[in-house]
Amino acid sequence: MGKLEGKVAVVTGGASGIGKASALLFAQEGAKIVIADLNEEKGQEVMEELNNSGTEALFVKTNVTSEDDVQNLFKEAAGQFGQVDVVFNNAGIGVNKPSDELTFEEWRRTVSVDLDGVFLVAREALRGFLKTGGGVMVNTASMYGHVGVAQNAPYAASKGGVVNLTRGLAVEYADRNIRINAICPGFIDTPIIPEEMKDGLKAATPVGRLGQADEIAKAVLFLASDDSSFMTGSSLIVDGGYTAQ
Ligand SMILES: NC(=O)c1ccc[n+]([C@@H]2O[C@H](COP(=O)([O-])OP(=O)(O)OC[C@H]3O[C@@H](n4cnc5c(N)ncnc54)[C@H](O)[C@@H]3O)[C@@H](O)[C@H]2O)c1
Repeated sequence: MGKLEGKVAVVTGGASGIGKASALLFAQEGAKIVIADLNEEKGQEVMEELNNSGTEALFVKTNVTSEDDVQNLFKEAAGQFGQVDVVFNNAGIGVNKPSDELTFEEWRRTVSVDLDGVFLVAREALRGFLKTGGGVMVNTASMYGHVGVAQNAPYAASKGGVVNLTRGLAVEYADRNIRINAICPGFIDTPIIPEEMKDGLKAATPVGRLGQADEIAKAVLFLASDDSSFMTGSSLIVDGGYTAQ
């Protein structure tokens, strides 16, 4: 029996990278999947891939910075599958720019996806969990929620925010059968990392390579399943040794 047998999982940012790899793994473990992403074409493709392999899956075009979109996502998910048991709150964007050159608009855009979006999805997930008697949430932060980084100020501020938002929500809802943890990846080979940065990031990582999305997905599955039944409020760092330096 799969680790998520019979569960319904919403995956934001599920059209690509870590979200896609996690959605595919959740499906292998018996979950029905709702892919939520801005990217309609890639989101539909992942939904079709899941359907073709025998998984019940839905794609809902969603901008996580829009309250209406996020409310619609959970309405569609519940309408199709009855309830939502697992939420992987993962959509995010990066930025690489010296902080003294950042426009306020660039700051706001990043924080709006990477922190506001995480809150909006978490709030809607909680509303559902409270109605159905519980659930599990995994928020994607980053190792940059734990250590400083140059030329990534709004990203680092958001990811640090996600780490502590996770702690706060975990404490707030721990007695309602709701577990909430964060995953903190190091450098993972996905489209979010510009090609020209990859060699430098490999060299900066003690294991000497980038992580693969499915290596994060396995840790996300751990946090999303009963294997982590006594964990809530944690941030699990999976970074090839970067933050151990
Ligand atoms: N790849 C890494 O090195 C790394 C490291 C640490 C943390 N992360 C985090 O992992 C998460 C997933 O990133 P990834 O590496 O898989 O990148 P990715 O670019 O492959 O995937 C991100 C997905 O989020 C979607 N998205 C972006 N803005 C959105 C919005 N407003 N609403 C809905 N969907 C939106 C994109 O369309 C894309 O499909 C992000 O939160 C990222 O910050 C990635």
